[in-house]
Amino acid sequence: MVMIGASILSADYGHMAEEVKKAEEGNVDFFHVDIMDGHFVPNLSMGLRVPHYLKSITDVPIDVHLMVENPDLFIPKLADAADMIAFHAESSKYLFRTVDMIKEHDAKPIVALNPSTPIGNVEYVLENLYGVLVMTVEPGFSGQSFINPMIKKIDNLKNKILTEGYDTKIFVDGGINLETAPKAVEAGADGLIAASAIYGKEDVKKAVNDLRNSANF
Ligand code: DX5
Ligand code: ZN
Repeated sequence: MVMIGASILSADYGHMAEEVKKAEEGNVDFFHVDIMDGHFVPNLSMGLRVPHYLKSITDVPIDVHLMVENPDLFIPKLADAADMIAFHAESSKYLFRTVDMIKEHDAKPIVALNPSTPIGNVEYVLENLYGVLVMTVEPGFSGQSFINPMIKKIDNLKNKILTEGYDTKIFVDGGINLETAPKAVEAGADGLIAASAIYGKEDVKKAVNDLRNSANF
């Protein structure tokens, strides 16, 4: 079963508890929280209080996606809130150190790759990761179109993981909808993250189910 993550970036911030409930009713596998610092990406989103708040209202795992210049600064502040923490390979000089820091805070480490970043950048750390987050849009905004050459990247990464015999998961983030979801899964995705295809829809519960059905063919 492919995991479905609901990115709250497109949720109604005035009614967050209800938005969480709706996705829970669709049996979403995790919530994805996009944290941006205005430096690593040209946008600001939400602060650290949001994952802590979500943790207090749901038992569904929380996945924090750090789009920040210095992830090491924020990892300790996510203890007790994040079940998974994704940081960008482009933002850490010392990937092994950052991965260890996440593990020390009892979260599962995920390394995110911008669309143009080669998979070779995570080759040697791959075995130590819970997952790789393949960005299929340039990070910073929801509602962008899926970058098609990323299908090849997912496929190459899957082959590498299978050849080495690792159990590292592939998560795909950006431009996921009913059309791109099956393509990403066919190429090797284990988890799909969507903001607009879930929270941009009138019926959130149905949107999660539709996405799951399109991904598990
Ligand atoms: C982009 C974020 C994504 C975003 C996805 O920087 O990392 O998680 O919320 O939005 P959609 O699904 O609308 O492309
Ligand atoms: Zn994200």
